[in-house]
Amino acid sequence: MDTNYFDTAAEVFPDECFARPVDLAVILGSGWGEALICDRTLVRISYADIPGLGAATVPGHVGEFRLFERAGKRIAAFCGRRHWYEGVGWEAVVLPVEILRRMAGSKLLLTNAAGGLNPALRPGDFVILRDHINTVGINPLIGPHNPEWGARFPDMTEVYTQHLRDVLHRAANVRGLRVMEGVYAFTSGPCFETPAEIHAYGHMGADVVGMSTVPEAVFARACGIQVAGLSLVSNLAAGISAKTLCHEEVMAASKTAQRVMSGLIDDFIAAC
Ligand code: HPA
Repeated sequence: MDTNYFDTAAEVFPDECFARPVDLAVILGSGWGEALICDRTLVRISYADIPGLGAATVPGHVGEFRLFERAGKRIAAFCGRRHWYEGVGWEAVVLPVEILRRMAGSKLLLTNAAGGLNPALRPGDFVILRDHINTVGINPLIGPHNPEWGARFPDMTEVYTQHLRDVLHRAANVRGLRVMEGVYAFTSGPCFETPAEIHAYGHMGADVVGMSTVPEAVFARACGIQVAGLSLVSNLAAGISAKTLCHEEVMAASKTAQRVMSGLIDDFIAAC
């Protein structure tokens, strides 16, 4: 990946963003973009005004950066993300993490909507990511090594930090939510999976499946950032229910869960 690409993007972020380390960063996926409660907004930038990121193209992705205060903490939020399947390259996908790294952020929450494979899961459940399987075989760290992004061969034994998982569990339990820990299978998209693929991923140990999150998690972990991952189960994965899949169903599920998602993120911000 090209460092100049990130330098150009960083120039549109005002000095305020880099004045003090952020306490937490969040990258909000499909349908999660409206889930933040802010006390005081310090900076707002539309993705369309961030070179190299560009306007979000996927419905349900707001496409706005916000630096704000909540519960006495300083939070950097990327509301909406770019995906590998958009064909915009790795730089746009991991740019939010690189900007966060430059803001000296040490903790990152990644959220997404995902399909449920584990038979215990129902739409509307939450899954706290324990680990992931990269079924795509591609990786944002491929290319010349930049030592600022960590080791050439970074360890991925604990991508999703235990402490942050514990904080998410407590927040979900206090709210009485149906939540489990699970493994996220990353697929390239943009098509949904076939039933045979879902069957195979289930045997590999996946509990949920989706088209995002893993590239950011890998890049952040390599850089030494603590990562938490949270999926809203928006649908049962292909072949598990008799229904055909569509993005409208994914968005409808996030809309229904909006209030709950807001509360969960807010409790996580307060406690982490
Ligand atoms: N598959 C892949 N990505 C998804 C799904 C799914 O079933 N649901 C939401 N994102």
